[in-house]
Amino acid sequence: MEQTGMPVRSEISAVDPAATMTDPFGRMVSYLRVSVTDRCDFRCTYCMAEDMTFLPKRDLLTLEELDRLCTVFIEKGVRKLRLTGGEPLVRRGILQLVRSLGRHLETGALEELTLTTNGSQLHRFADELVDCGVRRVNVSLDTLDADKFARITRWGRLEQVMQSLEAAGKAGLSIKINAVALKGINEFEIEDMLKWAHGEGYDLTLIETMPLGEIGEDRTDQYLPLSLVRQRLAEKFSLEPIAYKTGGPARYVSVAETGGRLGFITPMTHNFCESCNRVRLTCTGTLYMCLGQDDAADLRAPLRESEGNELVAQAIDEAISRKPKGHDFVIGRNAAPAVSRHMSTTGG
Ligand code: 5AD
Ligand code: SF4
Repeated sequence: MEQTGMPVRSEISAVDPAATMTDPFGRMVSYLRVSVTDRCDFRCTYCMAEDMTFLPKRDLLTLEELDRLCTVFIEKGVRKLRLTGGEPLVRRGILQLVRSLGRHLETGALEELTLTTNGSQLHRFADELVDCGVRRVNVSLDTLDADKFARITRWGRLEQVMQSLEAAGKAGLSIKINAVALKGINEFEIEDMLKWAHGEGYDLTLIETMPLGEIGEDRTDQYLPLSLVRQRLAEKFSLEPIAYKTGGPARYVSVAETGGRLGFITPMTHNFCESCNRVRLTCTGTLYMCLGQDDAADLRAPLRESEGNELVAQAIDEAISRKPKGHDFVIGRNAAPAVSRHMSTTGG
């Protein structure tokens, strides 16, 4: 176990519920995604190369430092916090951080604490996550076919994820399945996934592949526009656009035949930057103001420079004042990735 230096209740400062952060385009930044590790126990073909080099462990922020940073963000107006990775549940002692951040749910400073996971370990942690105040999880799952699953994830087994979903459901977690739409791979399985997910009471969100990091393959071979998927689904299902929002960029429809919700995340075919409310923190304390841009701010130095939080708070303000208007993803033969870092570094 890592040593816990998490704050005790008496040290917790009161958070001003009216605090907000606004960027130069008038967008309120109320959502922080934190990649707690860049490591993962899968090697999904669209996400990573098989022989990935990960950050040296000594470069990582400790769990205590992550807690401190997240707390500053909450004090400044973050209302939703999502832990991602890599795979967040492979970080040693991660539940300590979840439990500690859960205190902000109790005070009402934080509205939601969630997790994006590949489901490999979730069955071990589901009950405890609920106990810490987590109510919803996103589970990444691109296929229901065990062989295909093994091919996509390289190292994963479908059975692990199915076991996790069952445990998460029993623990009382609401579940959203995130599936990346992959040409020729799950392209013709999406209808079955929709029926399955809604049958189980899960939301389903489809995602377009984004050009993040070198993966040792040509992304043009993987890219499947969701406009096409939606058109095909609309031939079989009645899709009714709804106003439902989870704080993310997904646009939802309700599906009359299944009674469930289906989301589309379309960074490629439909730019959603105008409503962007988020920033992303990496496990080394680098803050990215946009998933698709290289500009970043180092928060580790100001965090370590003093015991108080003023320097970090200043660095955050300065970073938010540079939040760019949007990304500019292009996928094509010979097109370089929009940014060199992988999704697993910045957090999906
Ligand atoms: N493009 C789109 N989605 C990606 N993910 C990982 N890499 C990419 C990429 N290049 C997805 C994962 C997971 C979420 C966190 O991000 O499948 O659902
Ligand atoms: Fe791991 Fe998620 Fe990347 Fe797959 S997509 S390798 S599960 S971080």
